[in-house]
Amino acid sequence: AKSNLQFPDGFLWGGATAANQLEGAYDKDGKGPNLADVLPGGKVRLEKIKDYGFDFEIDTYKYYYPNHEGIDFYHRYKEDIALFAEMGFKAFRMSIAWSRIFPKGDEKEPNEAGLAFYDKVFDELHKHGIEPVVTISHYEMPLHLIKEYGGWRSREVIGFFENYATTLFKRYKDKVKYWMTFNEINGAVFHPILGLGFSAKDEESRLQETFQGLHHQFVASSLAVKAGHEIIPGSQIGCMLIYAPVYSADCNPENVFFALREEQIFDYICGDVHVRGEYPVFAKRYFKENNINLEIEEGDLDIIKKYTVDYIGFSYYMSRTEKKDKSGESSVEGNIMDGVKNPFLKASDWGWEIDPVGLRIALNQLYDRYRVPLFVVENGLGAYDKIEEDGSIHDDYRIDYLREHIREIGEAVEDGVDVMGYTAWGCIDLVSASTGEMSKRYGFIYVDKQDEGTGTLERKKKKSFNWYQNVIKTNGAEL
Ligand code: BG6
Repeated sequence: AKSNLQFPDGFLWGGATAANQLEGAYDKDGKGPNLADVLPGGKVRLEKIKDYGFDFEIDTYKYYYPNHEGIDFYHRYKEDIALFAEMGFKAFRMSIAWSRIFPKGDEKEPNEAGLAFYDKVFDELHKHGIEPVVTISHYEMPLHLIKEYGGWRSREVIGFFENYATTLFKRYKDKVKYWMTFNEINGAVFHPILGLGFSAKDEESRLQETFQGLHHQFVASSLAVKAGHEIIPGSQIGCMLIYAPVYSADCNPENVFFALREEQIFDYICGDVHVRGEYPVFAKRYFKENNINLEIEEGDLDIIKKYTVDYIGFSYYMSRTEKKDKSGESSVEGNIMDGVKNPFLKASDWGWEIDPVGLRIALNQLYDRYRVPLFVVENGLGAYDKIEEDGSIHDDYRIDYLREHIREIGEAVEDGVDVMGYTAWGCIDLVSASTGEMSKRYGFIYVDKQDEGTGTLERKKKKSFNWYQNVIKTNGAEL
């Protein structure tokens, strides 16, 4: 249908993925083991992510590890990129597996075979006129850095990351213009494992450890921005937030303030450091009240101030509704974050509340506060898909979800927000980050791979494939 909305010329339509969730080939061509390789499949993963004292070992007797094979993009990237091109993608968001480039993470010299793989992928994308958008670190820290250094707990990791990022910039300077440093950096506030590569010792020390780890990442991110700008003139280096507007459950000012404070802590501590180059004013009190004492070395704050990001990439899946006193309330079951149920919203089969208007709110809030270009680099619906007897897949629920969200982006553009692009999450079915399931599918392209690891890996277009192709063709004028 006609949308009556106008998206900017050159809008970066496309899809988004992460290395560990689709590449497979987890031990090929010199790649070292990483965090994703030790995360089991199934709902047990979600519990492990929340665990204290997670051991980071592989136990194949007990568990199945879906990321080891992923969807075998490592060997099928040509076929997959051709399908993205057929949909008309202008951009493809992907990440680089750190441990392909530095198998242990602390080496001085990179692994040439790993670098060569991404050369081939970028060349293939450019052959089809698709711009790569690259996340440098997406939940796939080398295991050695986790075990030997305690992940981002350690300040030493800053130097390893800087070397890794610099290596990428030098190697791909003619192939990649758009970069992002850390995927969903603020997600660590709820669960440090994925982003920071450690599980907190206990609930009491969680915030202290998390914010110290984040501080290290802030410095590392700024050093990457510095290196990127020096090595690749004209490059665009962004941060990446998981953004959720926080609503008050009602108009009781106590709850309104509570929601505001939650939003400040969750969304704006990381956002402010990345974009404004400084910790926000409320952080001081929040840190004090929560016994968070950051070790900040001389020079850190200057680096943070000087090398801020060019744009904000963010994921948007849900809003969050909060209340000061949650006793007696059932919390939202599947949402990754805290909160109470929003009576106005329906949820996905995994309990993620669906809120398209929340995306327009998010875009307005972020632009009001930061005035830098925004890039919606993840959004989508994880759903069960059914293959009909004739082989077709009618994923109208996914089309509806995406249509509603894209419409709200169009509204935000009319509001005056500078939006660079939209890359739908999991444009091809891949392993879920939170549950390790394959059955939580996001793609326009179906992959025959099942939760327990069976399947031919054959690719099939879903109904949403043609729908999205037309959205891109009409630059959002038809949704
Ligand atoms: C984001 C992550 O949190 O959400 C992705 O950046 C992830 O890696 C996506 O896959 C969807 O979450 P899930 O758990 O459904 O895969």
